[in-house]
This record gives sequence, structure tokens and C-alpha cells, in this order.
Amino acid sequence: PVIRREDYKPFPWRVPTTRLDFALGVEATRVTATLAVEPNPDAEPSSEIRLSGDGLEPASVTVDGHGSNSWRMEGSDLVIPLEQGAHELTIVTQIDPSANSQLMGLYASGGMLCTQCEAEGFRRIAFFPDRPDVLSTYTVRMEGPKRQFPVLLSNGNRTAAGEGGDGNHWAEWHDPWPKPSYLFALVAGDLVARTDTFTTMSGRTVELAIWVRGEDLPRTEHAMESLKKSMKWDEETFGREYDLDVFNIVAVGDFNMGAMENKGLNVFNTKYVLADPETATDGDYDGIEGVIAHEYFHNWSGNRVTCRDWFQLSLKEGFTVLRDQLFSQDMQGEAVNRIEDVRLLRSVQYPEDSGPLAHPIRPDSFREISNFYTATIYNKGAEVIRMMRTMAGPERFRQGTDLYFERHDGEAATCEDFVRAIEDGAGLDLTQFRRWYSQAGTPKVEVELEHDGETATLTLRQTVPPTPGQPDKQPMPIPLKYALFDRATGAHRGEELIVLDGTETQIAFGGFADKPVLSINRGFSAPVSIERDTPVEDLVFLAANDDDSFARYEAMQELIVGHLVAAVGEGFSGDDREAGRAAIGRAMTAILADAGLDDQMRGELMMLPSQTYVAEQLLVADPGRIHAEREALKGWLGQRLEDDLVAMHARASKASDGMDAAARGARKVKTQALVYLAAGNPDLAAQMAAAQYDAATTMTDRQGALMVLAGLPGIERTNKLIEFYNRYRGNALVIDKWFSLQASSLHPEAIAHVKALADHPDFTLKNPNRVRSLYMAFAGNPHAFHDPSGEGYRMIADLILALDPLNAQTAARFVPPLGRWRRIEPGRAALMRAQLERIAATPGLSRDTFEQVTRSLG
Ligand code: ARG
Ligand code: ZN
Repeated sequence: PVIRREDYKPFPWRVPTTRLDFALGVEATRVTATLAVEPNPDAEPSSEIRLSGDGLEPASVTVDGHGSNSWRMEGSDLVIPLEQGAHELTIVTQIDPSANSQLMGLYASGGMLCTQCEAEGFRRIAFFPDRPDVLSTYTVRMEGPKRQFPVLLSNGNRTAAGEGGDGNHWAEWHDPWPKPSYLFALVAGDLVARTDTFTTMSGRTVELAIWVRGEDLPRTEHAMESLKKSMKWDEETFGREYDLDVFNIVAVGDFNMGAMENKGLNVFNTKYVLADPETATDGDYDGIEGVIAHEYFHNWSGNRVTCRDWFQLSLKEGFTVLRDQLFSQDMQGEAVNRIEDVRLLRSVQYPEDSGPLAHPIRPDSFREISNFYTATIYNKGAEVIRMMRTMAGPERFRQGTDLYFERHDGEAATCEDFVRAIEDGAGLDLTQFRRWYSQAGTPKVEVELEHDGETATLTLRQTVPPTPGQPDKQPMPIPLKYALFDRATGAHRGEELIVLDGTETQIAFGGFADKPVLSINRGFSAPVSIERDTPVEDLVFLAANDDDSFARYEAMQELIVGHLVAAVGEGFSGDDREAGRAAIGRAMTAILADAGLDDQMRGELMMLPSQTYVAEQLLVADPGRIHAEREALKGWLGQRLEDDLVAMHARASKASDGMDAAARGARKVKTQALVYLAAGNPDLAAQMAAAQYDAATTMTDRQGALMVLAGLPGIERTNKLIEFYNRYRGNALVIDKWFSLQASSLHPEAIAHVKALADHPDFTLKNPNRVRSLYMAFAGNPHAFHDPSGEGYRMIADLILALDPLNAQTAARFVPPLGRWRRIEPGRAALMRAQLERIAATPGLSRDTFEQVTRSLG
């Protein structure tokens, strides 16, 4: 059944309090849920209460202290007739956590028990109005064998604990803040904690704890530091203070997503907790800092103010991503962070927005909400709120968010509530801007700069492309930051902001004897595609001179994308190719030589646009041709710039130990140098990579070297892959890297390698991190996935079919790569479609996979 936003109705009952009693066991856990219910004065009264369940059977149902037999099951829901007035319902269920391979609800991971309830996992634990607008105050008691589960955790504060009979012990937890069921959590296991304290701005002391397996304890320091920084930053930047006496984080090895913001008890994928320089890359460190912050920030944007229904998911996710992005920018520096955020948006969200799965940041319908935890809801959602901030300025934006938190604290709110609070608090008129919430598709902005006499005229024209179910679009307000540079002086006349709110606008600027150079969408002020014909020399100029770091990066990207798109098109001559490469070579040489650049930024400027991003510029792409042109350009640059790259690698190698920004930058450019050299001079690169590998004092250097080696045939590849495996055998997160590096490699035999790795004793379909490390890496490896034989497509389809019965949520995440078929040349498109049809024809598909496959077939 399709669920529609317009069908929203408040639940007829309120549930002021919920008491949960767990008799814990890995194979059998008995749950006794006691719900105080009363009619909801804001809803139409009902003579029954419908409680969601998923795979549950009621062992007993008691209404107001009397055993009831007037209940019935409707599908998986429990329906109990109920007279108006207040009642107490007690329902007993029994579940088997060890059999829960979906990792939703209560499940076992490495001997411990833990929960994941967002979005609809609570109904796999107990019958309940499992919807985000039913808020209740929870008291949880759990009892179980002390040897097996020495640590017992739930939301809020621990109010009592004690010993039971038969080696059991128990604990009781109370969360004073009313919350929806998706924020419930329970953990029971043999865990140890890194503890610390944080004093809030009003002077309260909060006990912090990060719970992990004993051997992982030394790798929790960075997570704890990140948590304390996040708490401080949210007080300073958004005025948000933490509201419980304890804040617990638990790391689990089996987890469908990154992490979960359960009230006072965040549950994390180990990937976003554990780090030390020997086993985690600089990127892993940043990922941990960002996800710890993200989940912590949800305490206000998500928990204190939650969502009315799941169509409002971006209310909490878009806003919280923006908050974690602003935090990371403040911690790490704005320039590089912004570029990384945009790279992610354009490589994942843009393809989503231009394909069969396109949806607005506030969708109108879905079958399975798990399929809507997307880059659109999260990352485009963040960009939409960022635009409001850009238009209001940070101070007025803050007044808007203050008003939002004040108005809606304790409520289940809507995106509309958020927009209205920003309007009122920041003093903006967002009437037209609301279209960003309802219309899908990445707007295109055509930009033209004409020059005549002393006048430069800027013309901007927008179109929003049609998307499934939305053939016609209205223009949306698009805030664009721009500057006009004087060619002679290399300086501009001040950055301005223009909001393009109609289809087309024109502005004239006087006093330009020569045609200026236009820098537009500076700082990526709007999530749009800029289309313009900028002369190559202007791009080279901006890549060297723009004072906006993002714009500088963008000029470089535009230069290279323009070249590759032309190169794979018709009528591109050998001379055109030489001229294009020469311009890129000039710009790259300047970047390598620029003493004013720090290495982190240099590393960004050196990066070639991804193959997906290049393909995105074409109506129909030939992945083989793009790959060949892109690799050829890399090889050409590797050869032309060989001396500079080797020198840079040597220079950076002397400065790449330690965890400070300079050393991180040095590591980044070292591996970048190897990437180009591998394409230009493979023997030299293999030798340098092997040396970098042997000398590495950090995982960043070691992984960078191994990544390059994994793509180069030769003995060093085999040697180092074996060395790496033996060195880290038993460390799951590092072995994940070992799988990934091979699956994403440029090696011509990558397909065969992935097949062999699927049979490796360390491979299992039961662990989502391992599945993703092999198959997501593979699906994102263009030359392997798009092998003209169609073998890559078949392998992903086989995976989906094998995984779907075990873990539907994770299986469904592999559908989008196949769903791109409309934008791929006809030969491969037919092969991709055939695989989707094969999946669609398989009986017994999960709702998750069924929805994604049918949408993808269109
Ligand atoms: N709310 C979590 C986060 O973004 C994501 C949890 C999603 N879980 C799921 N099963 N879909 O931080
Ligand atoms: Zn989130």
C-alpha cells in the first residue's frame, strides 16, 4: 500500500506513559508493555485502538487489569475495542533477537543485545502506536543473566538496579522527556566505557560514556573529544544545552546505517566511533567527528522537536546535517569542508534527483520509509536550509532557529512549521521559497555575461527539470553569490548576492572597460547546476585567482568536465584534445606550484571530477568512453607533470607524520601524486607506493599507497595486499577497507577479484559493513560495474536477491545503481533493465526492494 502525506490524521489516542519490562535472552526475550492511554482531544474519537506490530503475536492482552479476548489481529496490527476515557493496556510479546537478521527492532550483535527503532522498528519489539507524533514518557525495566549482560542501558537516567535470582540482575531506567517510539533504545552486553564529564552552560554536570568491547577501548578517545566539542559548539552556536544527567553512546559492529540518535543513548556503527592513527584514516577521523556531532545535535533537532510524520523527515535530517556541516567547518576550516560537502551532494544527490527515484525533500508518498533516508532528504535538505541562512545572514537565521525551538519544543512538527518560524524569526518572506520543499529536480541556471562599451550585463535564466510525477515546475528562488573580477588586476569589486526568483533576470554593471571575469555560485550558495560557456582562459584565471575557495575548485572542475564532455562527444579532434589537455596542464602546474595554498586545499584542487559527475552532464552517457578519456587525461597529466609530482611527493613525505592539519594535507597530496603517476608511469608509481606503504606511520598513508597498488598489476600489489591482510586480520573495520580497496580498484580484473572475495572466509552477508565494503565499492567502480558484458549488473542483482530475505533495508540500497539505466547508452541500459526485471519477477520480495525496483523500472 502507498502511504500519502495528504492522508495524515492525528492518532485518536494519547499515550502519556509507557512501561516496558524486558526479560532478556538472546534467543527469547519477553516484553511486557504497559500503556496508559486516553482519548486525544485533537483527533476524531475512535471506539478501538490500533497498535502496530511486525512479526509479533500477543501472548496476553489485559485491559484495565482484566484479561481481554475482544482483541483481533488485522494483518500484523493488534486492534483492541476501547470505550472513551482513560485505560491501561498491558500486552505481552515474545521475540527472538538471535533470529533478527534485519537489524531492526531488538537484535543480537556479537553476543550483545541492542535496538534500532527508527523508523518503524519499535513495532518489532512491542505492539504500539509506532508513529512519531505519539509521544510518551518511558520507564524501562530489564532483567537478564549478569555474566552475559553485565551492562544494562536504556534512555534517560538509571533510577534503580539490583540482583535477581539465578545469576540475574536488573536495572530500571526512566526518561523524563516524552518521546516517540522511534527514539527508544535498549542495550545489554559485556561492554566497557570511556567516561568523561561535560559541564553545560547553566552549570550542570553531564556524565558521558562511550561503551565498546574491552579491546576497543583505546580507540575511543577521538569520539569522546568530538562529543565534548559538539556539546560546547551547540551551546555557543545555536544556544542548545543538553537536558539529561547522562549521555551514553554504544558502538555495535552490525548496524544498517551510520548511527542513531536515541534519547540519551545513541547507538553507533563501530565505523563512526573507533579510531587510532594506525587503523583509521584522516577521512575516518572526520567521519567520526561529523557523525558524533550529527547524532548529538539531534537531541534538539529531532528529539526535543520531532517530526509529525515521516514525510517530514528532512525537518530533522536536513536541519541536523546543516548543523553538523557548520560544526565541521568551524572545527576544520570552511574551505575544504564546503568542497567535500558539495562533492558528496553532486556525486550522490544530483544523480538521484535526475533519475527514477527523484523525490522532493518533503515527499508526497512512499511504500517503505526506509527507502527515503536519502541524499535528497539529508543533503539537499541541508542545502535548502543553508539557502535560508544565506538569505537571512547568520544572526537573523539564529533568531529564526531560536523561535523554531521555542515554539515547537516538545512537539511533533512539520517542515511548514520550520519555514514559518524562520520567516517570523529571521524576517524573510519564504512564500515562493517553499517550492524547494515540494518540487524535486536540480534546477539549471543558464548564465550569460555580455560586454558592450563600459557595461557588463549578466543574464540568469532558470529551469527546473521534470521528475517522476512532476512534469511541470514553477521557478524557485535561487540565491547566487557572485563577483566580477578585473582581468588586469586580478581583484574583484566585492561579492554580491542576487536571488533569482523568477524565470529570468538581467543586471547591468557599469565601469568595465574590459570584459570582467564572472565568478558565480560562490561558496555553492545554491544547489543548482550552472550552465554557461566560460572561455577556457577565464576558468584558468579563476582556478588561479579566485579568493573564494569553492569557486576556485569549481573553476578547475568546470575546466576538466568541459574537456571530458567534449572529448566523449562527436567531432572532437586530436587538436582539440591537445588544446584541452594543455589548458588543464597549465592550471594544474600552477596549483602544484602555488606556495600560498595549503596542502589540504591543493589536494582538493588537484582532484579530477568523478566519473558519475561527468556522466551527469550528459543526457545519455557511455561509461566506457568517459572512463577511457578520464584515465587518459590522468595519464597525460601524470606524464607531463611527473617531475613536479615526484618532487611534491618527496616534499610532503618529510612532513606527513602526526595528526595536525599540515601533516594531513601532506598525506592528501602524497596520495594524489601517486594517483596521477600510476596512470602516467605505472612502474615508478608502484615503486613509490610500495615505499610509501612501508614507511607509513598512519593508516592514511598506508591505505593511500595500497589503493594505488591495488589498481596496478604486478607483484607489489599481491605482496602488499597480503601484508595488509595479515597485519590487520581480526580488525573488522580495517578488513572492510581491504575488501573495499580491491572492489573499487582500477585493476582490469576487478570483477574477478570481487567474485573471489565474495567466497573469502571473512565475507558474510550478515554484516552490513562487510557487504557494503565489497559491493557498494564495486557498484561505485565505473569500469567494473559497467563492464560491457553486463557481468557487473548481474553480480549486483544476485547480491540484492541473496540479501533481500536477510536484510531488506540494506538490499534495497543496491537498487539505485541499476536504476540509472535511462541515462546510460542503449547496450548497457538494456542489460541493466534486464537485471531489474529479473529482480522484479522474483516472488516474495521485501517491500523495500519491491518499491525501489518498480520505481526504477518506471
Ligand atoms: N536518524 C538516523 C540518523 O540520521 C538514521 C537512522 C535511520 N535508520 C533507518 N533504519 N533507516 O542519524
Ligand atoms: Zn540524522
